[in-house]
Parts: sequence; C-alpha cells; structure tokens
Amino acid sequence: MLQQSLDLAFVSGVGEGGIPDAVFETALADLAPALERLRGDARDKTLPLLGLPADTADLPGIREAAARLRDGASDVLVLGTGGSSLGGQTLAQLTGYGTAGLSAFLPEPRVHFIDNLDPLTFATLLKTLPLKTTKFVSISKSGGTGETLLQSIAAITALRGAGVAEDRIGWHFQGLSEPAKPGKLHALRALLEPFGVPFLEHHTGVGGRYSVLTNCGLLPAAVLGLDIDALRRGAARALAPVLAGEPVAKTPAAQGAALNLAAARSGRNIAVLMPYSDKLALLTRWWMQLWAESLGKDGQGTQPVGALGPVDQHSQQQLYLAGPRDKLFTVITVANKGKGPAIDAALAERIGEQDFAGRTIGDLVAAQGLAMIDTFARNGRSVRKIHVDHVDEETHGELLMHFMLETILTGYAMGVDPFDQPAVEEAKILAKRYLAEGRG
Ligand code: PA5
Repeated sequence: MLQQSLDLAFVSGVGEGGIPDAVFETALADLAPALERLRGDARDKTLPLLGLPADTADLPGIREAAARLRDGASDVLVLGTGGSSLGGQTLAQLTGYGTAGLSAFLPEPRVHFIDNLDPLTFATLLKTLPLKTTKFVSISKSGGTGETLLQSIAAITALRGAGVAEDRIGWHFQGLSEPAKPGKLHALRALLEPFGVPFLEHHTGVGGRYSVLTNCGLLPAAVLGLDIDALRRGAARALAPVLAGEPVAKTPAAQGAALNLAAARSGRNIAVLMPYSDKLALLTRWWMQLWAESLGKDGQGTQPVGALGPVDQHSQQQLYLAGPRDKLFTVITVANKGKGPAIDAALAERIGEQDFAGRTIGDLVAAQGLAMIDTFARNGRSVRKIHVDHVDEETHGELLMHFMLETILTGYAMGVDPFDQPAVEEAKILAKRYLAEGRG
C-alpha cells in the first residue's frame, strides 16, 4: 500500500526554502473541482482508463496472445515508440529487464523493447538475433507511426533474408493497434494482415501514455510471466478514493496534484522523481513522458526529471542540495531493511566500518533513502515521501495509477487538456517532407 507524506514540502516543514503553506492551501482548493470532474468522468464512463482496474474481460485474450508469442520463441522484440513502449518497459523491469547486471541473464524468451529508432542498433540486432526463433510485436495505436512501420518492414525483410517462407512470416508477428477506420488506410494492418498476423485491438479510448494497464503494457508483461490481474488490482487501490467520493484531503493523487500545482506556482519548475529501487528505475522514464506530454501546454508544465537512488547521490546530489531552489523532489522508498547480502563482520571491521557488521545491503539502502529525504529537508528543499513495502505487480499497478491520476488532476486544475499532444505533430510532418526531399 502506497503511503504518501507531504510534511517536508512546505515552509512549515523545511523552513524558508519550502513551498509556502498558503500557496498549497490555495492549490488544494483548486483541486476540489478537478477531483469532482474526474469523478464525473468515472460516473459517466467518459474516461475508459478509470474502468480498467475493475475490468478482467480482456485478460484471457492477452494471455492467449502471450502464450502464442512464447511458443517456440527465444526472443521477442517489442516494436513501438513512446507510449506504445514505455509502459511495457516499466512492467518488464519487475523481472530484471533494463537492470544493470541482471538483464544479461534473463531466461528465454528474452524480451527486447526497441523504442528508439537507430539504424545501426536495429541493423546489428537483426544480424545478431536467431531470427528463426525471434518474434516481433508491432504496437501502434494509430497504426501510422513511421518508426514502428519501418522497424516492422525491416523485420519482414530480415526474416525473408534468413530464409523464412512467406507463409511462416505471420507466425513471427503479433500486431496491436486500433481497428481500421472505414475508407482510411490503416498502415500497420495493411502491412501485416496479408501475412496472416493476428491483431489485438488497442483500446480506442486510452491514449499511448495512459495505456500501460491495457493490452499495450499487459501483453509484454504476460509474455514475461507477470501477474497481470495483480497489476489491475493494485491500480484499483489508487483509484478507490476517487470512486468512493473521498475529498481531496483523503485522495493521495489529488494531494499530489495540489503539491505539484503549488510547486509550479511558487517557482519550482522542475519535478524530480527518485525511487530507491532498481525495479522502479524505468518507471521514472514512463512518468517523464506522462508528465511532459500531458502538461506541457499553453506555456505551462514543469520539467520532469528521473533520478535513481542511491546512485544519483553520487551524480546529482550536489546540484539538488546546493543549486537553485527550482525543484520539487519526490523520493520513493521501499522497505529494503534486512534485504540482500549480509555484511561479514570481520571484513567490515577490517575496513574500519564496524557499524556495517551484520547489516545487509538493504539496511544501508534504506538508511540512505531516509537520509536523503532528511538532507533535502535540512537544506530547505521541498520533498515529498512515497513509501511502498515492496515492489511487486500490485504495488507497481498502484504507483502507475497514482501517477496517472495525479497527472490528469494536475492538468484539470491547470486548465490544460492532459490527453492531447498537439505540439508533437509539427516535427513529424517536417521529417516526412525532408525524407521525401532527400534532406538530412
Ligand atoms: O503517448 C503518446 O500518445 C505517444 O507517445 C504515442 O504513444 C507515440 O507517439 C506512438 O504512437 P502510436 O502508438 O500511435 O504509434
């Protein structure tokens, strides 16, 4: 169960450097109509995201597709970018994906998320992978994203080059996209369906960066053997106070939104999210997209920064503590005490660290998280604490829903639409023009 504490964010908690308490009080008042609006979305079923935690009807289909993908596969490449990839990645990290030292030793099928388009990486991958036992999942809500389409075409060409027969190409693929609209070319389906590639339907009412709890995130999670029911159950926990009609004071996501609003209004233009757990490192990447793309509108929004504890104490801490007071810190601690290797007493003594004797690495990480929070406070830096007892599917689902609700509520209170992204089109259109003109 997620526990959130805001005490050390305000002047009353950390002294002059904190967010003025009165600014937070005003933000709290502004959150009341935002929360009411969100509740209306749930009541009127206008925001399908809010219906997901209670829905299990789609889970058998996801498990079936996952079993088909696992069948005979040594490697599964998830092709998709932005919101079509980051949710899956953060869930995959529960199994060690993207974690230094662990990712090299994961069992088959190995899952790879190829979210960035890089010609050399993709060429090397296609040359190196055992293509006869490699499967590809092409995920694109719109079905028209250039990165995903080009990767899918290159994968088909590589399979052909490896001697895979035309009628076997479909076996290597799974598609995930919205249904085709009548009279309109759906590029991804037009590319893959002629090979007999099966498609899962992308929820039409849940956009990419909010899609982690739909089949977009849950399909890769199921391929990796994660408990996808538990992810939805955890999400239900974060949503419960909204559905129960609790006031802002008793709704953690609304409290978090008020804090962020107050931070922005008092000149803290940077929001830093710093978990003390490798399993949450990619959650910060997912959150950065969610926060930036949802709120960066009409000259508003704050800059999301992902950090990781304790390693970033050796990288960012100097700036965080002694640089400009333009940041709101959120530290996520996990009950690490007693976890991990125990420290040999004689060896601890030999290095002059008697206090390490008999402790575990988890004891130190737990102490470091607490110490970091207190150091932020002593230096007059606004810090929010979020604590979870452990990181599993349920707590992960809860954290994901918490941050999605917090983002939506912040957007509602700021008066921006947290679901669109009008500014991202311009560069896409220009890149297509330059490609046609041979520029670049
Ligand atoms: O969150 C978003 O809306 C974006 O990041 C999209 O997910 C991303 O641009 C990919 O779009 P699509 O899923 O249509 O390929």
